[in-house]
Amino acid sequence: MKVGVIGTGYVGLIQAVGLASFNHEVIGVDIDTSKIEKLKRGISPLHEEGLEEVLKKHVNKNLIFSADYNLLKNTDVIFLCVGTPQDKDGKANLSFLFDAAENLKRVLDKKEEYIIVTKSTVPVGTNRKLKEIFKGFNVKVVSNPEFLREGKALYDFYNPDRIVLGFENEKDEKLKDILVNSIYKPFKEKNVPFVITNLETAELIKYASNAFLATKISFINEIAKLCDKVNANVKKVAEGMGLDPRIGKAFLNAGIGWGGSCFPKDVKALIKQFEENNIEPILIKATDIVNEKQLEYFLEKIENYYKDLKERTFAVLGLAFKPNTDDLRESRGIKLIEKLIEKKVKVKGFDYVEKARENARSYFSLKENLIYGYNVVILDDLYETVKKVDGIIITVEDDKFNSENWQKIASLVKEKVIFDGRNILNKENIESLGFKYFGVGI
Ligand code: UDX
Repeated sequence: MKVGVIGTGYVGLIQAVGLASFNHEVIGVDIDTSKIEKLKRGISPLHEEGLEEVLKKHVNKNLIFSADYNLLKNTDVIFLCVGTPQDKDGKANLSFLFDAAENLKRVLDKKEEYIIVTKSTVPVGTNRKLKEIFKGFNVKVVSNPEFLREGKALYDFYNPDRIVLGFENEKDEKLKDILVNSIYKPFKEKNVPFVITNLETAELIKYASNAFLATKISFINEIAKLCDKVNANVKKVAEGMGLDPRIGKAFLNAGIGWGGSCFPKDVKALIKQFEENNIEPILIKATDIVNEKQLEYFLEKIENYYKDLKERTFAVLGLAFKPNTDDLRESRGIKLIEKLIEKKVKVKGFDYVEKARENARSYFSLKENLIYGYNVVILDDLYETVKKVDGIIITVEDDKFNSENWQKIASLVKEKVIFDGRNILNKENIESLGFKYFGVGI
């Protein structure tokens, strides 16, 4: 089918590349011309495993990129994949979405039939508003939220747990046929469950899923604090809980809390939706509070150990919000560095992902307060990073840390202390090298 994708960020680019590999004819549109230029040459503007390979295979064949909305005129299905970042008041900012819709409206043909599918995470009721924008056009609006994890986004695209489709009319068989049997045919063939419902329900499934996962993490983080006090091990608690299939072991890794482009903004936006409907979001608000406090709790551990942090130097290993991504949005590592710097500490930062290091360098150099530039240095080599530091702080759950030469690291640091904010290291191995080890709840 002829497919349009508006927005070539994490969601849009994966959608465009993924659908091209299903042999659809795909046009990816973005107003960011520098991104489009890169994409036309088969270069991915973002770090995502396996993405560039598939991009190169299809670009300029059945996948084209352009900044020109006019090309969308001849498509059948158009996916809206623009960002819905957090507004100052915590609500989802829908200006990019509505701007994209207005731009699209200018080029669509009133005599043609179009299906407009929202993949962006949008508050309940947004797709109805989109329908209003396209009044007078022959347009069907669909909500089709994405559930992609950054760093594993392409894998998640090809291996979805479910496809959620919200229709204006749940009984619209023609629409169902196009989306299920044509657009997403390979998923149908793999027996991926399709959840077909109304627009509002589909919109809410996305928020409820993210808030639930965030709550699971906040729950285990709260338990971890008690573990610290009572000599219990949160990893074992999670293992023991997770073996119950009603609970499940995923997303029970305690640490310094959740960050990223989705959980923080989606949890806040869901809170707003409750408040707008005059319902007190007791549990979801608590999820958010626990997360904020978790970083403070970890920082207190560091402060309690050193008593005075002033003039200390730390190696912070992990700059992006999680492993295998260059995305710094709401990164716990970056937040922690900022808090450390406020306490007159020097930081040497490292991330395995080169682009994450580049992004961190420009983030700190762009900070108004030049003190950041002076007090933070981002290094390309882990061993250089740990040289002569008073302590090592781990902020992402990257298993690669376990394959490092910790004997060598022990010989390079000034003081053998590790604060493992993700409980990722093998405590016994590390302690056997003479390190003092502090995890979260272990
Ligand atoms: C998430 C959802 O998983 C995805 O379905 C949705 O579409 C977008 O939001 P993502 O933000 O890419 O994906 O990352 P995810 O792997 O879910 O991790 C989010 C944060 O939670 C990270 O900061 C991670 O470190 C943290 N986390 C995750 C934990 O602290 N403990 C866990 O057990 C799992």
